[in-house]
Amino acid sequence: MYKDITIAKVQDFEGDKIRIKGWLYNKRSSGKIQFLQVRDGSGFIQGVMMKKHVSEEVFELCKTISQESSIEVLGTLQKDDRSTLGFEIFVDEVKVIHLADDDYPISLKEHGTDFLMENRHLWMRTPKQNAILRIRDEVNFTIREFFRKEGFILTEPPIITPASCEGTTDLFEIDYFGEKVYLSQTGQLYAEATAMAFNKVYTFGPTFRAEKSKTRKHMNEFWMVEPEMAFADFEDNMKVQENFVEYVIQKVIKTMKRELQVLERDTGALERVKAPFPRITYTDAIEMLQKAGYEINWGDDFGAPHETYIAEQYDKPVFITHFPAEMKAFYMQPDPKDPKVILGSDLIAPEGYGEIIGGSERIHDKELLLEKMKQEGLPTEVYQWYVDLRKYGSVPHSGFGLGLERTVSWICGIDHIRQSIPFARTLNRVYP
Ligand code: 4AD
Ligand code: MG
Repeated sequence: MYKDITIAKVQDFEGDKIRIKGWLYNKRSSGKIQFLQVRDGSGFIQGVMMKKHVSEEVFELCKTISQESSIEVLGTLQKDDRSTLGFEIFVDEVKVIHLADDDYPISLKEHGTDFLMENRHLWMRTPKQNAILRIRDEVNFTIREFFRKEGFILTEPPIITPASCEGTTDLFEIDYFGEKVYLSQTGQLYAEATAMAFNKVYTFGPTFRAEKSKTRKHMNEFWMVEPEMAFADFEDNMKVQENFVEYVIQKVIKTMKRELQVLERDTGALERVKAPFPRITYTDAIEMLQKAGYEINWGDDFGAPHETYIAEQYDKPVFITHFPAEMKAFYMQPDPKDPKVILGSDLIAPEGYGEIIGGSERIHDKELLLEKMKQEGLPTEVYQWYVDLRKYGSVPHSGFGLGLERTVSWICGIDHIRQSIPFARTLNRVYP
């Protein structure tokens, strides 16, 4: 009897008669032997078929199986130190479930990224893309694990919102039975409401920004995890961020060793990601950049080269704090010592991966909030519920948002964010 197993679990079945259900990834033959590369979604394994060991019929059939046909492979699992997996199948029999058309677009040669993105639904079957998306799954799970362990409650915000939540530009507008509404840019404002009900909460969902940016760090649909904490100030907020980022990175580099190897990721820099993280104020960062010869003035936003330069001065992620209030969102608490700047921070990842977290203490005083909203020209009616939070038991509170895809890109060491999500939505692409 053959045991049904997955490739991920082969080490438990050495010497056993096994069956794997999967797809033919690649094959080559040398007359009396055929080598089958089989993938089953959990991994890749080589099957060795000897002409003298199988029936003539099976050997001939095998020659005709096209790339990506779905198959069952039956045989003995044996140790093989030459393969990265450490095992191969000595094949007794192969059964075809579906013979793939023989025009499979992703042949095993080099293709341009545009072509691969056009065939994203198939591209994700290849080892590297598969490894990236497995790591994404692990990051996803580890994020939830951290917040559960720390006593945070997951509260989902709506995706359709009557008002802008983060900025008044970059909104995807939709028609809601004749009313103009928007796809949410952030779950934060709703997390502030649920934090006043549950104290420590987080949201984790897709967010949408109609930014016309065509960089390797921007997408128009991305996932963000947004914790929000009552009775927490700016300092408390940064402590949670550094512990959180350390936890996710340290766990994932341990549990995803094999996938990181497939990606040829040198994890040395990731191993150093341990709290506490260095901090620099925006004002000091501007001065540092000016000294290094960059043309940048107080009040300017950082571009990618500035972020990269700042990150290169440290061997861990770095917090940039106290940004000019004018640059940042209306809800950020001004620093009482210098109200021109806010009690907020961005966390910049090493190796040029840029901002992975934005966070701040929130304005908890009703009058100050109303004044800020007025300055920004925000309509008070649709934000009334948000103002209510400052009317009924308002407390200092803080939170932050971490972009899932930027984090996955950094961990994987990949050069473009579009590979970090199954189906990317970017300026030029909504297919497949
Ligand atoms: O800095 P952002 O805009 O912050 C917020 O939305 C806050 N409401 C978060 C909060 O305090 N609850 O975005 C947070 C993070 C960024 O640091 C980045 O990692 C990611 O979201 N992000 C993007 N990722 C991919 N594509 C884009 N266009 C992104 N914009 C932001
Ligand atoms: Mg930001």
